[in-house]
Amino acid sequence: MKVVSTIAELKEIIRGWKKEDLSIGLVPTMGYLHEGHGSLVTAARKDNDRVVVSIFVNPIQFAPNEDLATYPRDLEKDSAYCESLGADVIFHPEPEEMYHKNFTTFVDMTLLTEELGGLTRPTDFRGVCTVLSKLFHITEPDRAYFGQKDAQQLAIVRHTVEDLNMNLEIVGCPIIREEDGLAKSSRNTYLSEEERKAALVLSRAVFHGQKMVADGETDASVVLGEMKQMIEAEPLAKIDYVKAVDGLTMQQITEIKAPALVAMAVYIGKTRLIDNFIV
Ligand code: PAF
Repeated sequence: MKVVSTIAELKEIIRGWKKEDLSIGLVPTMGYLHEGHGSLVTAARKDNDRVVVSIFVNPIQFAPNEDLATYPRDLEKDSAYCESLGADVIFHPEPEEMYHKNFTTFVDMTLLTEELGGLTRPTDFRGVCTVLSKLFHITEPDRAYFGQKDAQQLAIVRHTVEDLNMNLEIVGCPIIREEDGLAKSSRNTYLSEEERKAALVLSRAVFHGQKMVADGETDASVVLGEMKQMIEAEPLAKIDYVKAVDGLTMQQITEIKAPALVAMAVYIGKTRLIDNFIV
């Protein structure tokens, strides 16, 4: 497995693979990899001849008050993990490599980013769409892999790829959870022991809401009301949002029926965690 840090090096490798007509799977990440990312690399390995994992803490998707400087990083551990899963290349550029000083082109979208995460984190999705467009152009993948944990991101990426006629398939993979239910996230490492216990309120609320819907409740205000009540009973938790939206347009819905997404972002102390279920 190779670790490359320049766009030129990666493009050279891609050119070689394209000449041999090899299919390419891309797993875009911000590093500090866990089994959630691992499941994406494994899926990419299964579907493609070659696998690229990008590890880039993308500065333009963080708002000034967010955790860009402290976002956890461990390239050595990530490299060993990717190698054990059979990745071929890690692309690990510096911010200046991705955004030269005259960088001025952004990929933005309306509608899908106005709800959920977009309400409180307006910079996020513009930065995500821009960096992914760059990664797709550089890597020319046949497929790119994303976790369902950030369901809004997944919907947005699918939409961008369709709107801009990009020539790749977006593959969504299920949420991977700890044994006790907490969705795996690089940000879980920020949690103290007490916060780690409190964070279980997210998955408990998700499972509860999911069961209500499975049992036939479709009124969003009833389902969301009970989920919010559970979360509010946890003193360390502060709700950013708990909402039901259409799974394709990301617009709020009052009746939970497929394709729906019930998603939440909750602060546990200072750490913002997300979780969801799809219908
Ligand atoms: O989900 C993430 O880790 C990031 O948003 C992504 C897709 C790698 C873009 O920076």
